[in-house]
This record gives sequence, structure tokens and C-alpha cells, in this order.
Amino acid sequence: MTIRGFWEHLTKPIIGLAPMDGVSDAAFRYIVAKYGRPSLTITEFTAAEGIRAGAVRVLDDFRFSPLERPVVAQIFGADPSAFAVAASVAAALGFDGVDVNMGCPAKNVTQRGAGAALIQDPQRALQILAATRQGIDRWYETGSLEACGIPTSLHPEILSRREALGNPAPQPLPLSVKTRLGYEESTIESWVHTLCSHPLAALTIHGRTLKQLYTGSADWEAIARGAHIAREAGLLVLGNGDVQSLEDAGVRIATYGVDGVLIGRASFGNPWLFQGREANWEERRAVALEHARYLWEITNGHAFVRIRKHLVDYCKGFEGAADTRRLLMRTETLADVEAVLG
Ligand SMILES: Cc1cc2nc3c(=O)[nH]c(=O)nc-3n(C[C@H](O)[C@H](O)[C@H](O)COP(=O)(O)O)c2cc1C
Repeated sequence: MTIRGFWEHLTKPIIGLAPMDGVSDAAFRYIVAKYGRPSLTITEFTAAEGIRAGAVRVLDDFRFSPLERPVVAQIFGADPSAFAVAASVAAALGFDGVDVNMGCPAKNVTQRGAGAALIQDPQRALQILAATRQGIDRWYETGSLEACGIPTSLHPEILSRREALGNPAPQPLPLSVKTRLGYEESTIESWVHTLCSHPLAALTIHGRTLKQLYTGSADWEAIARGAHIAREAGLLVLGNGDVQSLEDAGVRIATYGVDGVLIGRASFGNPWLFQGREANWEERRAVALEHARYLWEITNGHAFVRIRKHLVDYCKGFEGAADTRRLLMRTETLADVEAVLG
């Protein structure tokens, strides 16, 4: 039986925030959730093997605020048994769903057989899905970090986050996949058939092949062909690639027969996109400041310079903001940001 979880209760059309490594961290997702209210959020891809190795730092990627719900943990890797452990961790941390990354085209990921390389290794892809499901179910059935084989180095952090959430009861979580059209060429029809042999709740199709990386335009006709097959099999399908606005999303959803979309790059510095409106300079300045304060608070200032990209993004399209942007690119601490924007 397919576990559909939160997916079953989403209002259509579904407009979600796409996972973006180095961008859609807990702070960005919090801000998008607060000012955009997308249908769902998804974490940056998180290394299954890193979690299995007991690296506490990897859990940074699995930080979330309840405001983001429904929030899905995305996992990448190549070793099915590591996915089982990582999925148990995601379930223990109180996520609403688990997504397996079968779309990342980065060389350091695909060379290890992970991400979009799985499109060429369907047998392993299905083993990963089975192991991920096992990991989710093991937490649901036992509620025990030990029984799930979760490294002891992770226990204190997981237990303290669980406590902060009021020790949520184990849930049978839905499983989804995010992938691309193919490896060199689109093989979306046969690939979707393969994926549908596992009981998935949802599938996101990014309309590019691995070889295309992020070049050219997403092929929405090909997305539509894959979506048709997956929907016949009872899955929810999200299309992804180049969606520029809420209006654009509506047109693509109506034209290409998907249940919704994930929006990535168009949301940079623009959480209001999910509300279909534009923010004025004063709102942008205030939210940029809030974003910086929130990031500082949840990370204790660790690797804070990653805020620069976001701060500059909030200034996009404002002619008078060139000087501000330059100053923001030199900020190191929250005090620096407050001095420029406060
Ligand atoms: C900086 C960046 C990081 C990304 N990281 C991830 C990731 O961790 N997991 C994933 O499934 N896709 C990732 N993607 C792909 C996006 O989720 C999305 O599929 C792609 O950007 C196309 O959608 P867009 O045109 O709306 O941006 C990333 C994309 C970008 C630009």
C-alpha cells in the first residue's frame, strides 16, 4: 500500500520550494515559509553516507522550523544501507516526508553513483527506495534510535531536537523522488515506469537531462509524458524547471498535466513570489535583516558569510541599491549587516 501522508492533504495546485544546496537552508526556508507560504518545503540534499558515518555536522542540513511544514528531508547517496539509516534519522527528527535525490548532476556526486547517476542504475535506484522505506518503517515500528542503527554520536542532537518539538509520535512517512529526464538523452518514459514499480507518493521531474546540467530550457513536453505515466500509476507529479512566477506556474500546470511545480531559482531573494506579488524596497530591507538575524541565531554565527548571496538577491532590481550590494558583499557578522541595513 502506498503511504501518501501529507501529500494527500495538499491543496492543488501544489507550489513548492525546490531543494537547493547552499541556498535553501533552514534560514532561507523559514523566510520563504513565513512570507511566501509555499505548499511544501524540501531540505537541501543531505548525505546518507555522512549520516551513517555519524557526522553531527551533517544534521545541520536537517534543521527545520515547524513553520515550514509540510517539510521534506531530501537524501542523496549511493549505498542503500546508508539510506536506511538516514531515513530513520529524518523520521526521528519529525519530518513530514522523505525525498530521494536522483537528479543532482554534480560530478563529485555522480562519480560516486549518486544523484542523477542512478538514472543509469535502475536496480540500485530501486534498492535505495526499498532501503529508505525500511528505514522509515523501522522508526515507525520501534521508535528506537538503537534499533534503527543510528550512530550514537547523533543521539544527543536528535533527542534534543525531538524534545524541542514535543517528542512527536512516529508517523508512517510518505516517500518521493526528484529526478531528471534522463542521463545523456531523455529516457523519461522507461525511467518513470521503473520508479513506479516502487509505491511512491510523489515524483518531481526536472525537465533537463544530466548532461544538460542547468543549460538550455527545461523540456516541459517531456515532463508531460513522464507525468502522464506516473499519474496513471497513482502518483502526484510536480514539474520543475524555469518556472518564473505564480502565473507561469499556473499556465504550465494547466498545459502539461502536472499536479504542481517546484520553484527554485526564481525564488532567490523573493519569497513573495509564492504569493504572486512584488515587495517594495522597505519590505525587502526588513526581511533581509530578519533573514540575517535568524541565520545568525540558529547557527551561532557559523559560516555566516553564506548570507551575502541572499542579501544581494534581496537588492536585485533596485537601481539605487548598487552601493548597498557592494557593502553587503563585505559583511562578516550580523553587526556588519545591521550596520548596512538597520
Ligand atoms: C544552487 C542550486 C542547488 C541545487 N541543489 C539541489 C539539491 O540539493 N537537490 C535537488 O534535488 N535539486 C537541487 N537543485 C535543482 C533545483 O531543485 C531545481 O531542480 C532546478 O534549479 C530547476 O528549477 P528552477 O529552474 O526553478 O531553479 C539545485 C539547483 C541550484 C540552482
